[in-house]
This record gives sequence, C-alpha cells and structure tokens, in this order.
Amino acid sequence: MDANFWHERWQQGQIGFHQPDVHPSLPRYWPALDLRPGSRVLVPLCGRSLDMVWFAGRFHPVLGVELSPIAAAGFFAHESLTPLRDTHGPFELYAGGRYEILQGDFFDLAREEVGAIHGCYDRAALIALPPPMRQRYAAHLGKLLVPGTRGLLVTLEYPQDKMDGPPFCVPVDEVHALFERDFKVELLERRDVLAANARFAERGLDYLYEGVFRLDRR
Ligand SMILES: C[S@@+](CC[C@H](N)C(=O)[O-])C[C@H]1O[C@@H](n2cnc3c(N)ncnc32)[C@H](O)[C@@H]1O
Repeated sequence: MDANFWHERWQQGQIGFHQPDVHPSLPRYWPALDLRPGSRVLVPLCGRSLDMVWFAGRFHPVLGVELSPIAAAGFFAHESLTPLRDTHGPFELYAGGRYEILQGDFFDLAREEVGAIHGCYDRAALIALPPPMRQRYAAHLGKLLVPGTRGLLVTLEYPQDKMDGPPFCVPVDEVHALFERDFKVELLERRDVLAANARFAERGLDYLYEGVFRLDRR
C-alpha cells in the first residue's frame, strides 16, 4: 500500500472505511482511560474521521496525521471551519478549532514535532497497513509516545484468504506481538460485527471480529 493507493482512493471517493457516526468504542471505553480535559490526543492515519469531533467535544485537542489533502480539507469543511495552513517540515499543517491535522506521511513524523501527547486513538490505521508496515507502525508509535500515554486500538479479524486487504486481518496474537515491547496491551472487547457490515458479507466473509484494545505506553 503506497501513498498513491490512498491518494487514488480519496480522489475517487472510495472511502467505504469512513463512518458516519462516532465509533461505539469511544463512549464505551475512553472514559476509563481517565484523561483529563485538555489532554491532547494523537490520531494516526485519521482520514476525516468524526471520532476526532467526539474528542474535541470532550475538550481534547486533537492531532491527526493523514496523507491525503482531500481528507484533511474535507474534515474541516464538514466541521464548517476554515483551517489556517502552514508548512511544517515535510507536512502541511491544517489548524482550526481544537483540531490540527498534519497532512503527510505518518512515518516522517518525529517526536520533537508532535509536542505533548497524552492519548492515542487508532481505528482503521494499523489494519490499513500490510504486515511489514504494521511492524514499522507499532515501532514508530512507540517512539512518538512518552511513557504514561494511553489509548485505544480498534482492529478487525476475518478469514484473510477470503478477501484481500485493506482492511487487513490483524489477529489478537499479532497485536500483542507488535505492541508488547513498548505498551501494556489489554483486549477489552472482541465481537462479531459482520451483521452490521453488509459490504464485508457481500465479499464472502463468514465472520468479522472487531477487537478493541487498551494500550498503555510503558
Ligand atoms: C482505512 S483509512 C482510516 C481512516 C480513519 N482512521 C477512519 O477511521 O476513518 C486509512 C487512512 O490512512 C491514510 N494513510 C495511509 N497511509 C498513511 C501514512 N503513511 N501516513 C498518513 N496517513 C496514511 C489513508 O489516506 C487513509 O485515509
């Protein structure tokens, strides 16, 4: 999955991953992370996710990172905000309201550039990446976040031989193997969400488990 793949998906409006509602894991599990209002949240590979709006509604400044300028601009347009734009190293920074989106490659992000981060949220970021990139992603997240940072990770599991990713199947064991060096990993929930995702049933899947994990940076 190179950058062009994602740029084309956004150009062609093939964004079936975009959800019209806030993901249910946020109201269900985020409060237990006990992050105070004002705690800043990193959202890697953020797309134009409305989950960022949920964070802002709880007084969390949000730092999203996203390759696509269409996604970054689309997010602010949807929120009726006109972002200030500035060049920030290899990134284009879009800033408005409680939101900052660094438009560029997540793997180019350095710890000095992110500033203070207290929380992290990954829905459809890890599972958007093929296996070798998942290792890079987990290691990079470990480098960006300081000890004490906590967050949620939402994954999918399905019979990978029935469908090519993305999204990719990332089993529970793989999540532990990827993150356990830098994070305490706790599986909070794992349930079959196939009935609510007709587009996956149409592609021949007979199960689709969604996993929600809590990650605590050691
Ligand atoms: C499956 S989508 C999920 C978006 C969002 N998390 C959501 O829940 O709607 C993955 C997103 O990651 C972006 N992306 C892929 N590779 C990236 C990279 N290396 N750096 C930043 N963004 C990337 C894509 O453009 C796409 O918007």
